[in-house]
This record gives sequence, structure tokens and C-alpha cells, in this order.
Amino acid sequence: MASKIVLVGGSGFLGTHLAWALIAAGHEVSILSRRGRGPVKGVRYLEANAATGKGLEAIAGADAVGYLAGIIREREQTFEEVHVEGVRKVLDAMQAAGSGRLLHVSALGARPGTESRYFETKARGEKLVEESGLQWTIFRPSLVFGQGDEFFSKVLKGLVRLPLPFIPLIGDGHYPFRPVWAGDVARAFLQALEKRQTVEQSYDLVGPKEYTYKDLVRLVRDTLGASKPLIPLPVTLFRLVAALPGAPLTRDQLAMLLLGNTGDPAKMLEVFELSWRHLENELPRILGIKGAEA
Ligand SMILES: NC(=O)c1ccc[n+]([C@@H]2O[C@H](COP(=O)([O-])OP(=O)(O)OC[C@H]3O[C@@H](n4cnc5c(N)ncnc54)[C@H](OP(=O)(O)O)[C@@H]3O)[C@@H](O)[C@H]2O)c1
Repeated sequence: MASKIVLVGGSGFLGTHLAWALIAAGHEVSILSRRGRGPVKGVRYLEANAATGKGLEAIAGADAVGYLAGIIREREQTFEEVHVEGVRKVLDAMQAAGSGRLLHVSALGARPGTESRYFETKARGEKLVEESGLQWTIFRPSLVFGQGDEFFSKVLKGLVRLPLPFIPLIGDGHYPFRPVWAGDVARAFLQALEKRQTVEQSYDLVGPKEYTYKDLVRLVRDTLGASKPLIPLPVTLFRLVAALPGAPLTRDQLAMLLLGNTGDPAKMLEVFELSWRHLENELPRILGIKGAEA
């Protein structure tokens, strides 16, 4: 059944994939973000700021709300503002508007007690959602791959293309990851709208295959047709670089990378029908290799 869906922070990479899927399924989609702009035809983009509460009255009348606002580095906003205060303000706005269904996008690995304030604040956001009394579902995706992603199409591609005769590897690179396709995150989101058993449940969203960080760098290198060797450099060197202002990799990102990000797909697969696309098949398109466009 068609519903009115509001995506807070849905103007970016993942929100665009969700919006495509929701529009294709006939839903009415509004997306709230600070800039109030985005690329998906048929979506109503509105200006709002979850962290300050500005514009959140647009939630009124929604059958379901998705919370996607998130940042990977603190520039204009802090992790606390976006992952905790923003969640609190949206929960308040939902209570005020009488909207009961919340699909919350957190992150795999979110937990207290790591060196990463991204994970720490994401965990606190999850706790607020769980204690909200609303009909919530939490998604905890691993690294998400797809057209427009940051990690594969910008970070790793940029690393391979650095003007060096080798590709610097962070330590031994044996940190495990289980990347998931953006289209499958969108499928899970869409199916959760219909499946009552997803209420008050959290789902780790992972892909079909586990890789090490080193495997991922090698895969991007090979897909780009490069042949430079991967040279391991000491983690302490990257810690020093990450401490510099404007460093390409923040301390938080480095901490998350060293922790790895993998999980068990069993619970997710019991409930959702996913296509489970493989990274290898999607990478040429993601990296913009000629002839691989959709
Ligand atoms: N991409 C991944 O691999 C991945 C993995 C695990 C979890 N996640 C989570 O998934 C969510 C979406 O990630 P993404 O990759 O799509 O990020 P993204 O491309 O950066 O999109 C996030 C969007 O949030 C909006 N936003 C930021 N602050 C906001 C605020 N205060 N109020 C309202 N909107 C705000 C931004 O638009 P404006 O600048 O216009 O406000 C931006 O378009 C995030 O919560 C992220 O932590 C992503």
C-alpha cells in the first residue's frame, strides 16, 4: 500500500538509493535536509535541520519516518549533534505529530567503548530510538557500496590514484569487512514497511562475502587496471597523519578501519528477501569504468 514517507537526511548517497526504491514502489516521498536539494525525480525536497529541529514539523502526516542523517567527519556539525541530538529532536517531532513508525539507519559496529566517537554516538542514538516507545526498526549496515558511494568511488579510488609508485596500506590490512549493496539496504527498508515482525528489531545489514581491507584495496586497484604494489606502512604513521588538521583520514575513521566491520547475515536473511549483489560485479560501474555504466 502506498504511504507517505519522510526521510530525514535522505539527500545523500544512501537516501538517494532508498528514494529510488520507494518511488518505484509507488510511495510518496519527502526528504528533509539542510540544503533541501537532491537528485531524485518525484521526491519533495525540503529544508530542515535535525540537529536544531528547524523544519521538522514537515514530519506531520507521515506514515513512516526514516532517519538517515549522519556524518563521517566533524566539520560543520559534531557527531553528538547529528547522531544523538538530531535523533532526539526527530523522536520529539514524531511524538508531537503522532507518527509512530520509525526506520532508523545506524551503523554496524556502533557501540560504546571504542576509540571512535562515530560508533559511540551512533550507539547512543540507537538507545534513544529503542526507548522511544515508537514502532521502531534499526538498520546497522556495514560499508555500503553503490553508485555515488564515498568509500569505494572516492576514498579507495583516490588512494590507488595517489601520485606514488606504490599504494600505501594501513598496517597489515587484515581488518575484516562485509560490504553490502545500497540496493539491498533499500530493499530491507522497503520490506520493513510491510513486515510487522520488524518492529522493535535491529538488523545488521551485510553482504554475501567477507573481505579484508587489503582485499578491498586490491580489488579497486585491479578494477581500475592499475598494477602498483601494495606496501604496508606502520599504523603509527597513519595515527600521526590523522592527528593533523585537514588530514585525508581522521582519527575516528582510522579507528573504525582498524576495528573492521563485519557481521552475521542470519537474522537479516530470515526476514528480508535481498538480491545480495557482489561487490566485484558492481565495482566497475561504481568506479566509473567506461562501458560499465548502467
Ligand atoms: N555509506 C555507508 O557506507 C554507511 C554505512 C553505515 C551506515 N551509514 C549511515 O547511513 C546514513 C546515510 O549515509 P550516507 O552515506 O547516505 O551519507 P551522506 O551521503 O553524507 O548523506 C547524509 C545526508 O544527511 C544530511 N544531513 C546531514 N546533517 C543533517 C542534519 N543536521 N539535518 C538533516 N539532514 C542532515 C546531508 O544533507 P545536507 O548536507 O543537505 O544536510 C546528507 O545528504 C548515515 O546515518 C550513515 O552514518 C552509511
